[in-house]
Amino acid sequence: MKSMKVYVDNSATTRTDPEVVKAMEIFFTEKYGNASSLHSFGVESAEAFEKARDVVAKKLNADPREIVFTSGGTESDNLAIKGVVYANKGKGNHIVTSKIEHPAVLSTCEELEKEGFEVSYIGVDGEGFVDLEELKKVIRKDTILVSIMHGNNEVGVVQDIGKIGKIVHDGGALFHTDAVQSFTKVMIDVKKDNVDLLSISSHKIHGPNGVGALFVKKGVKVKKLADGGHHEFDLRGGTENVPGAVGFAKAVELVNDEELKKMCELRDYLSNRLLKEIPNSRLNGPLGDKDGSRRLCNNVNVAFKHIEGEGILLKLDIKGIAVSTGSACSSQSLKPSHVLTAIGMKPEDAHGTIRITLSRENTREEMDYIADSLKEVTAELRKLSPFK
Ligand SMILES: Cc1ncc(COP(=O)(O)O)c(C=O)c1O
Repeated sequence: MKSMKVYVDNSATTRTDPEVVKAMEIFFTEKYGNASSLHSFGVESAEAFEKARDVVAKKLNADPREIVFTSGGTESDNLAIKGVVYANKGKGNHIVTSKIEHPAVLSTCEELEKEGFEVSYIGVDGEGFVDLEELKKVIRKDTILVSIMHGNNEVGVVQDIGKIGKIVHDGGALFHTDAVQSFTKVMIDVKKDNVDLLSISSHKIHGPNGVGALFVKKGVKVKKLADGGHHEFDLRGGTENVPGAVGFAKAVELVNDEELKKMCELRDYLSNRLLKEIPNSRLNGPLGDKDGSRRLCNNVNVAFKHIEGEGILLKLDIKGIAVSTGSACSSQSLKPSHVLTAIGMKPEDAHGTIRITLSRENTREEMDYIADSLKEVTAELRKLSPFK
């Protein structure tokens, strides 16, 4: 087999598109004014920054004044959840979230529990879809906020946020969704989807690292967490990251429907080959679909019985293939992934799981190389495994 270098860990981060780098460059070297300064250098930066805000807002069908630039998905999640519950304490102290959230949401909720807030964690079915009946029952008069993610970073399940938002609003609470993995992959319309707050991040879509945004619906009260100047509609102090926002907007502009279709096809081609050709393998999360509206178009998450994901990852790495064993943030931990256990997997099966996440840059030839390499690697590891 001819060796190749294949990067398929795009849910961890993506390669910054060279066009994005080009668009950003001038804002480091020539147009470097502070966007809050009153002189022409500042005005030039502010104009570029506001143009970037318009692009991001348009992609979500939001008003530009509803977009707050942040340092990424983690900060957006923190600002959404802590900001809303601190600002709306008068209503109660109850928060609802799901068992499959990213640590940026789960650990924020855990911190809030230490401060006296009560958090309910909703379960999911075998594919990862949130139990809507449980959600209806759990929302109470004193529920301030429901935070349920859109696209899951591990198993790729995409929740019906329009339906969830409606349930949340019928129950009288506010709805936040972490759309870090789904933004630009699944159509989002914050108005139709009944969303009050929504987190996104640039480095998942071929934009630069260290920039993201939070959509905050007009009229929703949020307490500022980073005190300082009155930047970002007084929701986040700190000098504006102009090159970052410009790069983020360029990344949004570069997305096209064709690449989403191509990723869906490659996703299903690869998972079909793996499931057919490697015994005792299973796909975690929902089955592939044509448009990525139930499963993220770039996500393949497969469990191989009787072997360890870490062993597979290291052997694939030697072959030049970059994958992950769970989410990037939990891959340092030996605990089975909380998402895989929430969908009902036994810890020993969860340990044999790898996540392959595609981008528009991947090819059919690379999928074949991954499938051929995985056949070889799993057979080798199974020979050594005491469990058969
Ligand atoms: C679903 C989800 N939320 C939040 C984050 C955190 O985003 P960032 O890396 O921009 O802080 C990630 C990153 O992996 C993610 O997958």
